[in-house]
Amino acid sequence: METLRIRPATVDDLESMWTIFRAVIAPGDALPFDEDFERDTFREHWFGTHAASVAEQGDEVIGMYKLGANHAGRGAHIASATYAVAPAMQGRGVGRRLVEHSLARARAAGFRGIQFNYVVSTNAAAVELYRRLGFDIVGTLPGAFRHQRLGWVDAYVMFRALERPESDVEG
Ligand SMILES: CC(C)(COP(=O)(O)OP(=O)(O)OC[C@H]1O[C@@H](n2cnc3c(N)ncnc32)[C@H](O)[C@@H]1OP(=O)(O)O)[C@@H](O)C(=O)NCCC(=O)NCCS
Repeated sequence: METLRIRPATVDDLESMWTIFRAVIAPGDALPFDEDFERDTFREHWFGTHAASVAEQGDEVIGMYKLGANHAGRGAHIASATYAVAPAMQGRGVGRRLVEHSLARARAAGFRGIQFNYVVSTNAAAVELYRRLGFDIVGTLPGAFRHQRLGWVDAYVMFRALERPESDVEG
């Protein structure tokens, strides 16, 4: 794969990021947003309290993630994150690079763990990627997601502690 660069997102990336996000929510199989989801809300989510990064190949943004505290105050030592890769670029290792990058950033920022609040159980790419990078399913939310094709499916809460810097890679 041509060199992939991951860097902080700026507002100049907003259009590319919104294009990717719209594309990944369109099938209704991965994230709890529907066709009514608005660009301004996206902007608030991705350029608000969470810090966004983009993966760039050449001068094209092909993926992104955001990372920040899952809660304020006494829950602020646990991070949460969201990842998205442009559909045409999925399955080529970009998602793995983004998650690895976010793990390093979360550790550097002093977070003690990362929690994914809502991983659609049928989203094999996400569940497998997270599992391979050390996340466990710690809870199942029955029927929490209204899948566009499959109807009500479960969502997982997934968690990984960050105490052990050497344990990023699948054992
Ligand atoms: C989930 C997502 C970020 C993964 O990114 P990706 O670039 O497609 O994933 P990668 O190519 O890096 O693959 C990551 C790992 O998962 C595995 N994997 C990928 N797709 C898979 C699938 N459909 N079934 C099983 N395993 C899969 C790969 O084998 C790879 O493992 P390896 O690195 O050990 O070989 C991407 O598919 C995406 O943006 N999906 C839509 C939005 C989304 O679901 N976001 C996450 C919400 S929780």
